[in-house]
Amino acid sequence: MAASHHHHRRSPLRLHFIILLLTLSQNPSSSIDLVSASPDDFSIIGSGWDFFHQDYSPPAPPPPPPHPPSVSCEDDLGGIGSLDTTCQIVSDLNLTRNVYIQGKGNFYILPHRSVNCLVSGCEINVNVTGNFSLGENSTIVAGTFELAAYNASFGDGSSVNTTGMGGPPPAQTSGTPQGVDGAGGGHGGRGACCLTDKGKLPEDVWGGDAYSWSSLQRPWSYGSRGGTTSKEVEYGGGGGGKVKLLIDSFLEVNGSLLADGGDGGSRGGGGSGGSIFIKAQKM
Ligand SMILES: *[C@@H]1O[C@H](CO)[C@@H](O)[C@H](O)[C@H]1NC(C)=O
Ligand SMILES: *[C@@H]1O[C@H](CO)[C@@H](O)[C@H](O)[C@H]1NC(C)=O
Ligand SMILES: *[C@@H]1O[C@H](CO)[C@@H](O)[C@H](O)[C@H]1NC(C)=O
Ligand SMILES: *[C@@H]1O[C@H](CO)[C@@H](O)[C@H](O)[C@H]1NC(C)=O
Ligand SMILES: *[C@@H]1O[C@H](CO)[C@@H](O)[C@H](O)[C@H]1NC(C)=O
Ligand SMILES: *[C@@H]1O[C@H](CO)[C@@H](O)[C@H](O)[C@H]1NC(C)=O
Ligand SMILES: *[C@@H]1O[C@H](CO)[C@@H](O)[C@H](O)[C@H]1NC(C)=O
Repeated sequence: MAASHHHHRRSPLRLHFIILLLTLSQNPSSSIDLVSASPDDFSIIGSGWDFFHQDYSPPAPPPPPPHPPSVSCEDDLGGIGSLDTTCQIVSDLNLTRNVYIQGKGNFYILPHRSVNCLVSGCEINVNVTGNFSLGENSTIVAGTFELAAYNASFGDGSSVNTTGMGGPPPAQTSGTPQGVDGAGGGHGGRGACCLTDKGKLPEDVWGGDAYSWSSLQRPWSYGSRGGTTSKEVEYGGGGGGKVKLLIDSFLEVNGSLLADGGDGGSRGGGGSGGSIFIKAQKM
């Protein structure tokens, strides 16, 4: 199951593109089971439904936390130069925690480099007054990538990949589907279930919770993790991450910006997609 929403608004001076990607997938074998199940298996009128039919309105978002101090180009990122002039990332970076990169200059990641933070929900935040560029065939992998810059360019073959790297769900939702039936993650609504055990009650097999603080106009939430088919091992695909680009002038994207839900393989449900929000004067 997949859905996407595109919303475009034009005003004389500015062009805003707002994109929300929502995807949800299940593994094929489970889909077959879903087709063969009787309608009663999916009845929503049963004991326990009330528990899952609590208030669906999203909780109010917390105020954004203050930005930590910026990391430095050379000491923290192993780059060359300064964030207040031009900082160039010349070697691969394996980050292990959130980074806030701020300065009055340019920030360039040279071609064929990878800047990764392979921790679910890890945030890479770049806020520079000048240009940003991600070189040809370079990659950024993290849970959240947020960029504010004057100009930005993403070279051929480059990617910002937050696929399956979403962080934990908002408070008041579990995100992850209940039970061990490999159901899909949820985003704006509850994810699909895939009943494999006819002895199970329906309330054990719904997919991920509605999972969003964000609006269609300003999507900004992770996807949720898919369910697992095992009590011991978490097989579900991770939720999609978040990508936000706020570009004052010119944005050129020749690469890919990804926030898909992670694949659950044959033993888990797929994660749901995350959010991509892009605003630029010209692209
Ligand atoms: C980063 O991690 C990858 C895979 O874990 C490893 O192959 C690579 O050598 C690491 N790079 C650096 C600069 O530590
Ligand atoms: C970027 O940094 C400036 C301060 O230099 C701050 O005013 C602004 O809110 C920051 N923007 C984002 C998107 O974090
Ligand atoms: C930003 O990039 C543009 C286009 O590549 C270049 O003309 C300009 O000089 C750069 N700006 C700065 C401040 O380096
Ligand atoms: C980028 O990767 C593609 C595919 O692997 C390759 O064809 C291309 O030559 C690479 N670009 C550069 C500048 O190496
Ligand atoms: C932004 O990009 C445009 C088009 O490449 C370029 O003409 C302009 O100089 C750039 N501005 C800055 C501040 O880099
Ligand atoms: C993007 O592709 C266009 C068309 O091939 C090319 O003119 C432009 O230089 C490329 N820009 C970047 C940043 O790779
Ligand atoms: C993005 O990440 C996912 C999950 O790690 C991976 O399967 C996919 O190949 C990546 N896509 C690109 C274009 O790198």
